[in-house]
Amino acid sequence: MSKITQIEHPLILHKLAIIRSKETGSKDFRELVEEVAMLMAYEVTRDLPLEEVEIETPICKTKTKMLAGKKVAIVPILRAGLGMVDGMLKLIPAAKVGHIGMYRNEETLKPVEYFCKLPQDIQEREIIVTDPMLATGGSAIDAIQALKKRGAKNIRLMCLVAAPEGLKAVAEEHPDVNIYVAAIDEKLNEHGYIVPGLGDAGDRLFGTK
Ligand code: PRP
Ligand code: URA
Repeated sequence: MSKITQIEHPLILHKLAIIRSKETGSKDFRELVEEVAMLMAYEVTRDLPLEEVEIETPICKTKTKMLAGKKVAIVPILRAGLGMVDGMLKLIPAAKVGHIGMYRNEETLKPVEYFCKLPQDIQEREIIVTDPMLATGGSAIDAIQALKKRGAKNIRLMCLVAAPEGLKAVAEEHPDVNIYVAAIDEKLNEHGYIVPGLGDAGDRLFGTK
């Protein structure tokens, strides 16, 4: 079964409160989503494997640890997942970035895939799928499916705000995928929006509504 980790930190909670507020405009929204993603990346990468290496300080030779061979790919679900990429790259600058385009049909709430471009060696990479919102879970489920179809094996999902319904759906469909969230909200409303949520993440990031 998927392990669900809620990353609760005062800085994340504070920034998330500002992100949620309807008074927050696109500029601040974008900056804060990036900052929260950077803070979350610290926790999401906690179990990355290390290897012993020998280095030479100005004083002497010593053995220490660095990240082992396994490389990371960040895969945002377009559009809103893009808002988390730069923050993560600040901590994992060598990561490659793949893209999966999904939009939710507003009537059926079913996701539609419209784009997929991944690093060539995606099968060998530790993959972090990013999307600020996990509502019904449909977009994340299909995005993860699309990655698996292309050979991806080690996948984790990172979201800012999740609904219990979405967490359950992803965990049932992809029990091998661990999920990291900053907040688990109350429920979905009749339009499939997270309550209290933060509204439409893509529109708020890019100022399209
Ligand atoms: C939003 C959000 C997720 C999806 C969540 O994207 O960024 O991808 O909805 O809903 P779900 O869990 O019910 O699938 P949206 O479809 O609005 O596209 P956008 O990012 O381009 O705005
Ligand atoms: N997509 C969003 O952007 N917000 C929600 O609350 C649900 C889906």
